[in-house]
Amino acid sequence: MHTKHGIRRNFARRAATYDAHARVQRLMADELLRLIGDAVTQAQKILEIGCGTGYLTRALRCLNPQAWLVAVDLDGRLIRTARNKLNGDHRTTWLVADGETMTRGAFNLIISNSTFQWFCQPGETLKTCAERLTPGGTLAFAAMGPRTFHELGASLKIAEAGRASPVDIPAAGFLGRDAWEDLLKQAGFVEVCTAGRLLVLDFPSVRDFLKSIQATGATNPHPRPFSSRVFQAMLAAYQERFAKNGSIPASYELIWALARK
Ligand SMILES: C[S@@+](CC[C@H](N)C(=O)[O-])C[C@H]1O[C@@H](n2cnc3c(N)ncnc32)[C@H](O)[C@@H]1O
Repeated sequence: MHTKHGIRRNFARRAATYDAHARVQRLMADELLRLIGDAVTQAQKILEIGCGTGYLTRALRCLNPQAWLVAVDLDGRLIRTARNKLNGDHRTTWLVADGETMTRGAFNLIISNSTFQWFCQPGETLKTCAERLTPGGTLAFAAMGPRTFHELGASLKIAEAGRASPVDIPAAGFLGRDAWEDLLKQAGFVEVCTAGRLLVLDFPSVRDFLKSIQATGATNPHPRPFSSRVFQAMLAAYQERFAKNGSIPASYELIWALARK
C-alpha cells in the first residue's frame, strides 16, 4: 500500500478517539503558538497543513478572527470533524488535499502541528512552502523526531533478534532537528530557528501505551503482522528493560521550527 494511503487511513479511523488521547499533540501546538508570537495575529492569510480534528485550527481562529484561513488534510472525515469544531466559520476554507503537493495560494503564515514528520518528500515540500509564502512570511511547524518511542523500537529489536529482516518502527525514520534546519536553509528560508525537547510520559503498562498510540492514529502506515510470540517477547522486553516504579516510560522527541522567507 502507498505510504500516504496508510497515513490517511490510520488517522481517519481514529477521528473519534484522537482528541481524548492527543495530549502530546496539544502540548506541541500550544508551544508552537507561544513561539510564533505576533505572526499569527498579524497574518491576513494562513495555511494550516494537516489540520486533523481541528485543535490548532480553532486556536488560530480564536487568536485571529479576521484572517482568511485555509485548512488542509488528507482525509475528509477529519476535515468534517474540524469543521464542526469551528461552527460554520465563514472565513475558513476546508480542503481535502495532500499538503505536500498543493501549489495554489499565497500566505503570510504556513503552520502545521505534528504532521511534517509524516512527509514523504520533506525537502521538496519545504521548497513548495517557500514558494507559497509572501515575502517576509513565516513557516512554523512542530514535528516529532527520531527518538520518539525509542523504547518501543529497542524492545521490538530484542523480540525480533535473529529474524532475517528486522524492521525499524516508523518513528526511527523521522527527521531530527538538525536535518530540518538544513532542509529549511536549503529551501531558501532565513532566520531559521528550532527548539527541541525529549518528553517522557509514564503509562501503567506497555499495552496501555500501545492503545494510546493507536487511539491517535500515529501507527505504522505499512502495518506488519506480528506473530503472538514476537508481540509477547516485545512486551516482556519493554517491561524488563524500561519499567520503573510500577510504570513504563515512553519518549516523545518534540521539535519546533520557525523560519522566514
Ligand atoms: C497527528 S495528526 C495532527 C492533527 C492536528 N494538526 C493536531 O495538532 O491535532 C496528523 C494529521 O496530518 C494529516 N496529514 C498527514 N500527512 C499529510 C499531508 N501530506 N497533507 C495533509 N495532511 C496530512 C493526517 O491526516 C492527520 O490528520
